[in-house]
Amino acid sequence: MRLRPYAEEDLRLTRRLESDPRVVGHLGGVGDERHVAQVHQRRMAAVADGDLFFTILLDEEPVGIIAVWTGEFAGEKVYELGAMLLPDHQARGVAGRAFELLLPHVLDSGVRVLHAFPAVTNGPSNAILQKLGFTRGEDCDLDYEGRPLRCAHWVRELA
Ligand SMILES: CC(C)(COP(=O)(O)OP(=O)(O)OC[C@H]1O[C@@H](n2cnc3c(N)ncnc32)[C@H](O)[C@@H]1OP(=O)(O)O)[C@@H](O)C(=O)NCCC(=O)NCCS
Repeated sequence: MRLRPYAEEDLRLTRRLESDPRVVGHLGGVGDERHVAQVHQRRMAAVADGDLFFTILLDEEPVGIIAVWTGEFAGEKVYELGAMLLPDHQARGVAGRAFELLLPHVLDSGVRVLHAFPAVTNGPSNAILQKLGFTRGEDCDLDYEGRPLRCAHWVRELA
């Protein structure tokens, strides 16, 4: 496995991820081609801004995305972790291995605390965050793509 920065060629990967309910079912649901293009542009802009947006390659095949970006929570700037994998690669420990590869980049960028906000109903996501040493705080209501979502709040200190 290796990570490389998200790139123009990953439009196809984003299309496959964003159009599959097994991937985005807990993330606001599937989107049309316009939505796919918006997500792709947002990711390209994030990379240009220095956010850590990586494509996960298995045998050089793109199988998903892992990223840390800046967000806002309770009026504070926070760094958020997120990942999504094509269905055939879920439940095989891929996200955990990708997180280990991501960690040096996160530390290099000076980030010392990571947050994650999966939907409370997202079993796999809540399970892996616990496995990665995150601690669950109070649930919260967040806006996801214009829709309200009840989310768990996970935090991990890296130092
Ligand atoms: C959440 C996600 C990134 C976790 O990555 P992963 O590599 O599948 O994680 P793991 O293999 O360590 O699995 C974590 C747990 O979820 C379970 N799981 C993962 N995918 C599953 C699936 N599709 N169906 C049922 N259970 C699943 C695993 O069996 C494991 O359970 P365990 O801890 O009891 O063994 C991945 O499942 C995914 O891409 N989900 C869709 C997108 C998403 O919701 N992303 C989270 C955004 S915050």
